[in-house]
Amino acid sequence: LENGLLRTPPMGWLAWERFRCNTDCHEDPKNCISERLFMEMADRLAQDGWRDLGYTYLNIDDCWIGGRDDKGHLVPDPKRFPRGIAFLADYAHSLGLQLGIYEDLGNFTCMGYPGTTLDKVFQDAQTFAEWKVDMLKLDGCFSTSEEKAKGYPMMAAALNATGRPIAFSCSWPAYEGGLPPEVNYSLLTDICNLWRNYDDIQDSWSSVLSVLDWFVDHQDILQPVAGPGHWNDPDMLLIGNFGLSFEQARAQMALWTVLAAPLFMSTDLRTISAQNVDILQNPLMIKINQDPLGIQGRRILKEKSHIEVFLRPLASETCALVFFSRRTDMPYRFRSSLAQLNFTSSSVYEAQDVYTGNVISGLRAETNFTVVINPSGVVMWYLYPVKKLETSQQ
Ligand code: DGJ
Repeated sequence: LENGLLRTPPMGWLAWERFRCNTDCHEDPKNCISERLFMEMADRLAQDGWRDLGYTYLNIDDCWIGGRDDKGHLVPDPKRFPRGIAFLADYAHSLGLQLGIYEDLGNFTCMGYPGTTLDKVFQDAQTFAEWKVDMLKLDGCFSTSEEKAKGYPMMAAALNATGRPIAFSCSWPAYEGGLPPEVNYSLLTDICNLWRNYDDIQDSWSSVLSVLDWFVDHQDILQPVAGPGHWNDPDMLLIGNFGLSFEQARAQMALWTVLAAPLFMSTDLRTISAQNVDILQNPLMIKINQDPLGIQGRRILKEKSHIEVFLRPLASETCALVFFSRRTDMPYRFRSSLAQLNFTSSSVYEAQDVYTGNVISGLRAETNFTVVINPSGVVMWYLYPVKKLETSQQ
């Protein structure tokens, strides 16, 4: 969507995967969906280095709605959001953050709260703009395909009509199988800034793999439709939660980064470990994710050894390579060369290992190298040419 927003994939924090629809503020006041949770996450984003690295979105998901007032305006749950959403937006803005909100195109949200029916689209867009919301995730439970086909373009028009720049995250394709002909990616590119293509991620490695497999299986369709202002969304990062090992957390971060995916953390930033902070705050990783060309990477190699290689082209003739192991035995010594990865240039390259910082220099296309990849782990390289070879030197 050409509204000037999200020229690089959005980064921030989204409540759903970690905090779900916990509304039990009596028993669990620290973790229930409430203004306290969002204010505490806002404080962490601002104070613990996240915001300054680009993690600026603070996004509410399902279960915030209390109902509608007598004029039909949405109102938040008065017990859990006593000061209202405009207050939270002001709070986020005062800390240099942006606030995202959630609604559902349909009779109800997925968790059964009041949805945005077609007759409410313009009114709800206006409400979000008046609250100074910066992003809307529009889910798709409890509506028909026909209603979605009307409602998503209508909401794009309604947000535009408010005059407030509001990034638009569309769950539409995930409800239609994610693929053409049911899904029209050129239309989505016009009306949405990002879209969920596939199933919800869950807190497990098998879930990460199922999402990854689907994106790779359909990369010929999905890869070309991503770019500045319009992104595929393989769903939230699980890093910091319960289901991933250290290697798997590094792998999700690297793979999402080469896929030019939104980096929405969904974890408790009040208690996250230093090790997980290091994964999420790796400056070179973020620079790669936020590359200005906005080209989504692809899997370029799949070996019988269960090693896969992903490549994302980046600005200034640089690129990112991810060597990914699906093995379950021991660290694997993967031997290759840039020529075997289809590099034909006569440049000499240097690679910086994104996680260790080690630099591998003097890489010509034919130079053999070995990377040691841990089970369900990655080695990630930032690769850049250092000089062109003169003909006379060859
Ligand atoms: C389905 C979405 O895909 C999830 O990300 C989350 O928003 C839930 N609905 C909320 O009910």
